[in-house]
Amino acid sequence: MPTFSKQTYTDRRERLRQQLSDGLLLFFGNEESPMNYTDNCYPFRQDSNFLYFFGIDRPGLSAVIDLDNNHEIIFGDELTITDIVWTGPQATISEMASQVGINETRASKQLAELLINADKSDRSIHYLPPYRSNNLFKISGWFDISSRKVNELASKEFIKAIVTLRSHKSPEEIDEMVKAVNISRKMHLKAQEMCLSGVIESQVSGALHEIAIGEGGQFAYPPIITINGQTLHNHHYGNTLKKGQVLLVDAGAEAPSHYAGDITRSFPVDGSFTNQQREVYSTVLTAENNAIANCKPGITYKEIHESAMLDLAEGLKDMGVMKGDMSEAVEQGAHALFCPHGLGHMIGLDVHDMEDLGEDLVGYSNEVKRSEQFGKKSLRLGRSLEEGFVFTVEPGIYFIPELIDIWQSENKFKEFIDYGALSKFRGLGGIRIEDNVLITANGSQVIGEPIPKSLKVIEQ
Ligand code: GLY
Ligand code: MN
Ligand code: MN
Repeated sequence: MPTFSKQTYTDRRERLRQQLSDGLLLFFGNEESPMNYTDNCYPFRQDSNFLYFFGIDRPGLSAVIDLDNNHEIIFGDELTITDIVWTGPQATISEMASQVGINETRASKQLAELLINADKSDRSIHYLPPYRSNNLFKISGWFDISSRKVNELASKEFIKAIVTLRSHKSPEEIDEMVKAVNISRKMHLKAQEMCLSGVIESQVSGALHEIAIGEGGQFAYPPIITINGQTLHNHHYGNTLKKGQVLLVDAGAEAPSHYAGDITRSFPVDGSFTNQQREVYSTVLTAENNAIANCKPGITYKEIHESAMLDLAEGLKDMGVMKGDMSEAVEQGAHALFCPHGLGHMIGLDVHDMEDLGEDLVGYSNEVKRSEQFGKKSLRLGRSLEEGFVFTVEPGIYFIPELIDIWQSENKFKEFIDYGALSKFRGLGGIRIEDNVLITANGSQVIGEPIPKSLKVIEQ
C-alpha cells in the first residue's frame, strides 16, 4: 500500500502541473539492480521522485504526465504466470495505480513509442538527470542525445518545480521523518550500550542493522561506525574497540515509508573521555546546540554554518590549537583543517534529499551562491531557510594526520594554527554530533524523541 492517501498524491501532481506550462514530464521508477549477476540484486529501492508523486513501491514502472492533454499514465508490465510462480501474486498495476489516483496504465514498451513520437512532433519532454546508467542510455537512445550530454539537457524547470515541492515537508511527511529518527534513536542507544573495549566495529554495525531491518525498513545509507572518525566517510568496520578511543557512529534508519533519519553520536569506549576528548566533545556540542537554536525562517544556512565554524574555532583556540582572531581565521578558512565539511544538508525521502537533482539547485539560490573555499565549498545547503524545511545540523572536529602534515609543511595559516600544540591532539580521531532539524513558523525544532548527547549522559 502507498504510504499516504490517494488525495496526497493527486494534490502533489496537481501542484507540480501548476508550475509547468507544457510538454511531457517523464518519471523513471527504478528497476532491480544486479549485484554480481542478473538474478542476485541489491535490495530494491524505489526512486524518490517516483515515490513522492506516484507512491508505488515496485520495480519496473515509469510514468508520464502529459501537460498538453491532461493525461497521467503509469507504464509497466503485469506479472506473467512464471513471475507469479517465482515471486508470488501481487496487485495488478491498474489496482496499484488507482490507489494513487491514476486511471490510465500502459505496457512498458509503449513508453518509448509515446516519447519518440512526442519528440518528433517537437513537443517539450522534461526529464530529470538520471543517476542509473540504464535510464541514461534510454534517454540517449530515444532522443538521440550523446550520453555525455544527457545530464546537461535535463529540464531545469522540472527540477526546480520538484525542489520547490519536496523542500517543504507536510505534517504527514514530518510524522514519517519522526518515525525514521525514532528508529535511528534505538540504533544509537544500542551502539552506546555496546561501546565497550573488546567489541568489534562490525558487531555494532550488525546490531544496528538488525534494528533497522526489524523495524521494517533498512539503513538510510551505509553507516559510519569507527574509531577513526577523522576519515569522513569511513566504511571499514574491522577495528576492535579499546579504552581511551572514541567511537563515532553516523547511522540512520530508513522508515518503511522510505523517509530517512541521519544521526551521529560520538561515544567514549568504556564510558569516559580523556580531558582532551572532553574538551573537543564540549566544543562540538556547543556549536551544534547554538546552530540549532539560531535556525529560523529567513536566516541563510550559510550564516548558520559560518557561525558554527566560529564556535568550533573559538573552542580550538581555548584548547591552544588555534590562535589569533577567530573571525578572521574562519573568514580565511583556517578552521577547515579541523572541519573540512559543511554543517548539513536537506533530508527527506533521501538522506541527502534530492541530491540526484543537483546539489546547487537544491541547496543554493540566486541570492546565495556556493563558496569555492576549502571546507565551505562542501556545504550542501546554503540558502535561506523556510518553514517546513528539514535538514541536518552536524558539526565535527577532526584531526586528519595526512592533512595536518601537508598544511604544516606549507606553514599554512601559521598565524591561526599552533602546530606545536596541535601535535598533542594528533591521534584523537574525530568527534561529530548530528541531529535532524525542522524549521517551524518562528524557529526550529529537533525532530524525534531526544537522543542523549550531553557530556554527562554520554559518559554514563
Ligand atoms: N550520513 C551522511 C551524512 O551525514 O551526510
Ligand atoms: Mn550522518
Ligand atoms: Mn548528514
